Amino acid sequence: MSKALIVYGTRYGAATSTSEEIANTLRQKGIETQVVNAKEQKVKDIAQYDLIVVGSGIQIHRWTGEPEDFLKKHQKELAIKKLALFVCCGSATDKTKPDAAEKARRKYLEEKAAKYHLQPVALGLFGGIYNYNNVPWYAKKAMDMDRPRVAAAYKEIEPGIYDTRDHNVIYIWAEEIAKIINSNLTVHP
Ligand SMILES: Cc1cc2nc3c(=O)[nH]c(=O)nc-3n(C[C@H](O)[C@H](O)[C@H](O)COP(=O)(O)O)c2cc1C
Repeated sequence: MSKALIVYGTRYGAATSTSEEIANTLRQKGIETQVVNAKEQKVKDIAQYDLIVVGSGIQIHRWTGEPEDFLKKHQKELAIKKLALFVCCGSATDKTKPDAAEKARRKYLEEKAAKYHLQPVALGLFGGIYNYNNVPWYAKKAMDMDRPRVAAAYKEIEPGIYDTRDHNVIYIWAEEIAKIINSNLTVHP
């Protein structure tokens, strides 16, 4: 049986539930999958995994520290493994800025892979969670101004909390990864 590891970092929870959704899809496809919150647990050895997925939420254009530390620490081994990266971020689904998603893909995913000389088999750009009950003080004004846009466009999953993700996009992405892992495709021919 193939084995996958998902390592993620989050601030508001989107990367947690996204990781779980990816894991559920991989498991449905017969792949044994472990999910690790990089803030709570350090992964020492990745030799046993056929696929590694590393993901983070984005805040002020930055990943969380721990999954990035993971990329750095395992850089050499990840370069010769099947690796997929994903981020959860507001820009992914911000329809008011036509080039926001494209810029986010480049900045948050492609540049991150390049920084560590990695060649992922897949890059996932997913929306995020806006939690107006938990806003950093420095972002309050900007987020309050943006709230009507968010409230009009996205589902309020709990009072004051909006989910901008399209969960079908996550499912399809995870299915694609499962195909790659279950095939004998060579990542770096
Ligand atoms: C203070 C703050 C700053 C943010 N900065 C960005 C940003 O620079 N780019 C972006 O695309 N989304 C940004 N977002 C949206 C987050 O990416 C979104 O909340 C996402 O769910 C974060 O992932 P997490 O829930 O796993 O922490 C920001 C959100 C907050 C609250």
